[in-house]
Amino acid sequence: MAIKRSANSQSVPNLGFSSQKKSPQTSRPISKNTSDPIVSGAATPQETESFDESLRPSCLADYIGQKDLKSILSIAMGAAKTRQDSLDHLLLYGPPGLGKTTISLILATEMGVNCKITAAPALERPRDITGLLVNLKPGDILFIDEIHRLNRLTEELLYPAMEDYRLDITIGKGQAARTRSIPLPKFTLIGATTKVGALTAPLRDRFGLIQRLRFYEPDELRLIVLRTAKILNTEITEDGAAEIARRSRGTPRIANRLLRRVRDYMQVKKLACINQQLAAEALDIYQVDVQGLDWTDRLILETMIHQFRGGPVGLEAIAAATGEDSKTIEEVYEPYLLQIGYLHRTPRGRVVTTDAYQHLGQITEEQLSIFAAHSEGERSNDDGLGCI
Ligand code: ADE
Repeated sequence: MAIKRSANSQSVPNLGFSSQKKSPQTSRPISKNTSDPIVSGAATPQETESFDESLRPSCLADYIGQKDLKSILSIAMGAAKTRQDSLDHLLLYGPPGLGKTTISLILATEMGVNCKITAAPALERPRDITGLLVNLKPGDILFIDEIHRLNRLTEELLYPAMEDYRLDITIGKGQAARTRSIPLPKFTLIGATTKVGALTAPLRDRFGLIQRLRFYEPDELRLIVLRTAKILNTEITEDGAAEIARRSRGTPRIANRLLRRVRDYMQVKKLACINQQLAAEALDIYQVDVQGLDWTDRLILETMIHQFRGGPVGLEAIAAATGEDSKTIEEVYEPYLLQIGYLHRTPRGRVVTTDAYQHLGQITEEQLSIFAAHSEGERSNDDGLGCI
């Protein structure tokens, strides 16, 4: 994919030059921004309820990006329609903001069925899931977000529901307790998760299709920004859309959010059109840099460089040193830093790469050449010279 990741992106070993700036005290202070991260892929309540809804494409043909996934889903839908059957249960995984809910709504529209949307934390009691299941009509889609967070009882109710379209419920308590089986219509469960590894094997195995959503190419995001701007009646140039796209961390939800911020800036400046210069100016004010990093990304990387000599360092240590929650680092910041090759994960911990050092201006040309020579030496050793 075209997100910047140079071929020679590598972890920086501790060669004694992990930072040009010797101590945390002398490092450039990063002004703390206490608002919600503008670059988080997770939806804000406002985005879930109104803004995102109006921007969602309603058919697969209008959906930009995820080409391979779209082909697979077109085949699945075509086959299901031919058989006059429901779609197979589908598990969608990947970072937040890439379109898992949108895809599910499109599938429902194209199959001509209803889509009921819920999230695992809302399914606390057995009656929460049974209430949803018994009200499904043939072919309906039940979408469960954050499906890795289902509790055990709810998950066990889903097994026969998914496999045999049957709900096994227990009536009464103690010795008087009896199990009853209620037939369910054939339905499709779409599970969405950012953590596919956290699903239990029995649940994962009950999905006929398991598909990953990938980060979007800058060019795909540019088209999404142009499309959204049109819906919002906002004038934007091609290069204005490209500027927003390249700062959007491969994520449509972030692209649309940044577009809104740039549109605010344009209106305050009493201008009529978003061009590249205006987009760059606005996003600089929001501290979203040319690679889409915000102040917290930079804080994480610079803390690793200054306090841990670039790593390897564990997640909890990074969290303690930055004051950020370890889950937020792992789920919001790290996936993109890994994707663009600014961080590596090793068995001994996270490591900052030369690309990140260069982006942050934390490495001199001389240090870079020492590093290149060092890694060349290591490669020759790997070629067997050290084994004689
Ligand atoms: N808006 C948000 N995501 C989109 C996508 N993938 N295609 C078109 N419009 C979108």
